[in-house]
Amino acid sequence: MIDRRVVEEIKYRNDIRDVISQYVTLKRAGSNYNGLCPFHSEKTPSFTVFTAGEGNFYCFGCGAGGDVVTFVMRAENLDYPSALEFLAKRAGIDIPEDSAKSQGEVSRTRVMDMNREAARFFHATLVSGNYPEALSYLRDKRAFPPALIRHFGLGFAPNEWGSLVKHLKSKHFSEEEMIAANLAAKSAKGTVYDVFRNRIIVPILDINGNVVAFGGRVMDDSKPKYLNSTDTPAFKKRRTLFALNFAKDLCAERMILCEGYMDVIALHGAGFSNAIATLGTAITEEHARLMKRYTKEVVICYDADEAGQRAADKAFSLLSEVGLETKILKVEGAKDPDEYIKKYGAGKFKLLLEGSRTRFDFKLGSILEKHDITVPLEKIRAADEAAELIAGFYSAVERDIYIDTAARKLSVPTDTLKADVQQKIRSRQKKENKEELRRVMSESAGYGNRTNPDYVRNPAAASAEETILGLILYSPELLGGIEASGELREETFQTEFNRRVFAAIRAIYNDHQTLEEGLLSERFTPEEMGRIIGMKVRRTALTNNGEDVLKECIARLQNARTKGNNIEDIEDILGAKRRKQNE
Ligand code: UTP
Ligand code: MN
Repeated sequence: MIDRRVVEEIKYRNDIRDVISQYVTLKRAGSNYNGLCPFHSEKTPSFTVFTAGEGNFYCFGCGAGGDVVTFVMRAENLDYPSALEFLAKRAGIDIPEDSAKSQGEVSRTRVMDMNREAARFFHATLVSGNYPEALSYLRDKRAFPPALIRHFGLGFAPNEWGSLVKHLKSKHFSEEEMIAANLAAKSAKGTVYDVFRNRIIVPILDINGNVVAFGGRVMDDSKPKYLNSTDTPAFKKRRTLFALNFAKDLCAERMILCEGYMDVIALHGAGFSNAIATLGTAITEEHARLMKRYTKEVVICYDADEAGQRAADKAFSLLSEVGLETKILKVEGAKDPDEYIKKYGAGKFKLLLEGSRTRFDFKLGSILEKHDITVPLEKIRAADEAAELIAGFYSAVERDIYIDTAARKLSVPTDTLKADVQQKIRSRQKKENKEELRRVMSESAGYGNRTNPDYVRNPAAASAEETILGLILYSPELLGGIEASGELREETFQTEFNRRVFAAIRAIYNDHQTLEEGLLSERFTPEEMGRIIGMKVRRTALTNNGEDVLKECIARLQNARTKGNNIEDIEDILGAKRRKQNE
């Protein structure tokens, strides 16, 4: 746990509006600020920054919310300690080493230090000349020049069981730490041995240049081809993109997303330093958001085989959803970009890149492939699909351009197609409104309520609880009276999540005589913080008649508690419903 005073200092020196302004354009609205939510796509601003007190943000659209630390956790894809580190760095504060370490766990810093040492060891081993087969693999088989090998810090793990373990021991790392970093493992007999053996080693760096993981490739056809670090205190593969540490420095308008890290290394070698890759995993939404922070456009350049193209299609949707301009590039005559560059050279790849198709061209292309437009009925279908596709673009200018292109390619009158598109837009809006309504209704009924799954069992009690918690969050001094009267105890809360929130608030208040939300975000996930801040914000919006409302809600809650025996009935009905749905 990080010292509370350090947390306070970090929060104090990072004004929430300053921090958020770096991600969102904020406009003043009374004493607060509004903008477009960075966590979901929207056209009208429902994202609000409340500057009073410690400062909070809340999105009335998607329910994201919290303090400045939660914001950074979400926006930068970081866990709590790393978000604090990030903000500390921003404000020029030193976090004492010990406090960043949670008990019983090997700290991130320690893992990263050890990884750096391991990377040095692997690289030195490679260039030592003692393993010519490894050097020859990289130089001859992969055509990586020495400068490229150095740039990526490539290395070699010899075919021995204990060389790295021995080396790290000499640098005063413990076996426990090596195991936590996934550099070593323990056999059934209790011997600790190297995980990476007889493999080419690719160090994985995070955006700050820390060595967070390793990938190891065999030099022949044996299996598994690649061995990757599992998640460690320093590495979450869902959130890490290979070579982003280099690509981000280009401030490139465009990045190239590949499947494999060898593709990326080859591309960098050929001058495309904006190439990145995921690490032995399909692309996640977190990856997409991460890319969104550094670039506007992504060209997906996956393997040419069917699996690669299917994966490209998935990546395509995900990247477009976060608002990235997305294109797909399929290499012809080679299995992947690495092989393409080797066979045809960088110049040819550059041409390919320039010609990579926009999302629109790509989709229109597949519509045209699917239908034979010389047949009238097929042509009508194709025009209909094109209209549907175009209706999906938000920008009117963009739509007009696409209408022209599509009309020409389909040889239909522009005006007809334009009218079709307008029609589609209207029906889309109707559908969206309906869906929004359904979402709001189902949320208030507690369905899809992941944060507080008990809500559905007892909505009356849960809603009273949320009002109470909202009041306390808004005016923590109410807790004094609550403690004194003894009317509201943890057991009074019927939903587990709200009980946990109450317990945390009480504990913080009793310890510090004030409610610091910074200490809450340490205990709850960003999603949960959103819910908690939502309670406060909804309360803040109402007139300030705190104590009466509090009394009434406590009474309602106690009432619901004594009558609580119909909870099971409701659950039964819902259970039956759900079972039916699943059948
Ligand atoms: P590929 O099999 O396409 O590898 O896997 P590649 O990049 O073309 O490798 P080369 O050119 O044969 O050396 C793409 C990515 O999938 C992950 C790795 O991250 C790899 O870069 N992968 C693949 C694994 O994690 N494990 C495997 O066994 C294979
Ligand atoms: Mn490959």
